[in-house]
Amino acid sequence: MAPPGGKGPGDPKANQKKPLVVVAGATGHIGGEVVKDLAAHGYRVKALVRPGRPASMAAAHRLESCGAQVVFADPTEADTLAGVCDGAEAVVSALGVRCVGWEGRGLGVGARPGC
Ligand SMILES: NC(=O)c1ccc[n+]([C@@H]2O[C@H](COP(=O)([O-])OP(=O)(O)OC[C@H]3O[C@@H](n4cnc5c(N)ncnc54)[C@H](OP(=O)(O)O)[C@@H]3O)[C@@H](O)[C@H]2O)c1
Repeated sequence: MAPPGGKGPGDPKANQKKPLVVVAGATGHIGGEVVKDLAAHGYRVKALVRPGRPASMAAAHRLESCGAQVVFADPTEADTLAGVCDGAEAVVSALGVRCVGWEGRGLGVGARPGC
């Protein structure tokens, strides 16, 4: 992934040129740090937040204050992921779950027998 270029953070056109990274598990310990670090290094960050969780809104505000764009989506629910990764250079998963009940769609987290 090329390092981001462009002007300052307030320039919308420059922001659009920055590489986009999607972070799943952004509300977690590791994911939150990844979001902060990517934003601090000039990447555009889309942070996935599971909707309807007790801490979702507080997490969303925290992630936005780091400069991330919050998207309410559940990586284990393929139907919530339509278009989420469009234009992304990379997807980082810091999920606290190793498998989900569907395969080959969305973020590409595969189902495993027995999970
Ligand atoms: N922390 C460490 O030192 C460490 C070291 C080595 C490996 N790891 C691995 O790294 C991963 C992240 O660790 P962490 O410490 O950052 O965990 P964490 O703070 O518990 O964060 C877990 C993240 O995964 C999401 N998540 C959990 N269960 C989910 C489910 N069923 N469906 C969708 N999203 C789910 C959580 O979303 P909600 O906020 O919505 O619950 C949260 O964003 C884990 O797989 C862990 O085993 C961690």
